Amino acid sequence: MAKQRSLKLGAILHGVGGNMAAWRHPDAVTDASVNFAHYTELAQKAESGKLDFVFVADGLYINEKSIPHFLNRFEPITILSALGAVTSRIGVVGTLSTSYSQPFTVSRQFASIDHITGGRAGWNIVTSPLEGSALNYGKTLEEHPNHDKRYRMADEYLQVAQGLWDSWEDDAFIRDKETGVFFDPDKLHTLDHKGEFFSVKGPLNIGRSRQGQPVIFQAGSSEDGKNLAAKGADAVFTGHETLDEARRFYYDVKSRTAAYGRSPEDVLIFPGIGTIIGSTEEEAERKYEEVAALVSIKNALDYLGRFFEHHDFSQYPLDEPFPELGDLGQESFQSTTNKIKQDAKEHNRTLRQVALRVATPRTPFIGTPEKVANLLQEWFEAEAADGFIIAAGVPSGLHDFIDHVVPILRERGIFRSEYEADTLRGNLGIAVPANRYSEQRKAAATGTESFTEHASEQYTEQYTEQAADHAADHVADHATDHATDHAADQVHVKGQEPDLTTGQVTAQATKQAI
Ligand SMILES: Cc1cc2nc3c(=O)[nH]c(=O)nc-3n(C[C@H](O)[C@H](O)[C@H](O)COP(=O)(O)O)c2cc1C
Repeated sequence: MAKQRSLKLGAILHGVGGNMAAWRHPDAVTDASVNFAHYTELAQKAESGKLDFVFVADGLYINEKSIPHFLNRFEPITILSALGAVTSRIGVVGTLSTSYSQPFTVSRQFASIDHITGGRAGWNIVTSPLEGSALNYGKTLEEHPNHDKRYRMADEYLQVAQGLWDSWEDDAFIRDKETGVFFDPDKLHTLDHKGEFFSVKGPLNIGRSRQGQPVIFQAGSSEDGKNLAAKGADAVFTGHETLDEARRFYYDVKSRTAAYGRSPEDVLIFPGIGTIIGSTEEEAERKYEEVAALVSIKNALDYLGRFFEHHDFSQYPLDEPFPELGDLGQESFQSTTNKIKQDAKEHNRTLRQVALRVATPRTPFIGTPEKVANLLQEWFEAEAADGFIIAAGVPSGLHDFIDHVVPILRERGIFRSEYEADTLRGNLGIAVPANRYSEQRKAAATGTESFTEHASEQYTEQYTEQAADHAADHVADHATDHATDHAADQVHVKGQEPDLTTGQVTAQATKQAI
């Protein structure tokens, strides 16, 4: 039976802000990106609002055109550990690249944070889109793995990490002073992984935390990114401008989970939303204009350029159609650059218009608390999102959201008044992954198949049945409604979605997603 859904909320802690000139805002704390007191204050504010988690993003390459926050900021593992110690209930989630690190080290680091926080750690897997990252890790630009290879590495990396986190069964440590038995050797497991990219013997030198394993987030929205999420992540960060687009993405990722023998409820979808709250629409609009006015066209071109490997857009005329870029961007921020190109073409935008739209986005989430709460509720109920990650557009933004929007969501009964649990998995409502060896032991003892095998069959069957029903309905009802949606065509059929509940997908979707 489907679980009762409840809205989840996270907040990006983004130092001086995600905008090129946000640090110049009259209320900005100009050293916020390296100011621990500032991070503490925001994390504690988010916890007072009962948000599920705070999130710290990251990247591995900067140049003089990067946004000020990227130039001088905390490394995620370090700041997450520190935030874990000054909070008690909220999750602490951070980005760490699978292209420029080793799974043994990173599994240890996140397991340690998970222990320090009593089960509140989350890891956002990214693959480091910028080729310049190679130069910081003893490689040449040519040696930067391409998009496809980065995702293959990420896939293997995640399997290794999850394997290492199972090195010790939950009751492996006996710690009996009388008998001198510290651990049960039968409950210690050596991974012995030898794959295409990684060779890791194990075992990991830290046991499982209260939530079993840190929560895995995935932030890429390309085909490879969605497959990685469907296969192994607990949650996905994504970005969408419209309800329709968000909804298509939601169904797309959820439908792919079935192909991996998982339930759609196993992966939560979090669109990132830029919010600006005002007591009136005019006030919110004025706040937006104030921030947007700080961004010069040069700032905007630099910001846009980063998505395309720091491409120099100043070489093109500003008021002519957005330049033809060929494949540029395919190997970096693939889903983002595809979207930018497609939008420019569809709307015949000039370079100036594109740069300003990207650098100072006028999101739908700018307005009064009621308007923003209405939109969140609408997106949540329409199954375009399981939750949201809030990127405040002005320095007071997180406070505004927690003081004015959260109470409305609470009154409407769609957001909690108290934490339900004291682990991140518990609050997100996602299962603690059973230790694979304990499962095998149990299965062997009872002569049954392990949960994982059973679940896989069950979901595949359920999806195939539902898919067939809905595919039939769809053909009758919506046969002509396909044309505009290229992305969704890959895995499901536009026009069908409004009739679906979570997990009801086409047979075609299930097949193609593998
Ligand atoms: C809320 C949110 C947070 C993200 N955080 C990061 C991050 O910290 N580092 C990063 O490289 N990419 C991050 N991304 C993802 C990038 O925007 C980009 O989609 C991805 O790195 C490229 O993957 P793709 O080619 O699969 O789209 C984030 C995306 C969203 C929506």
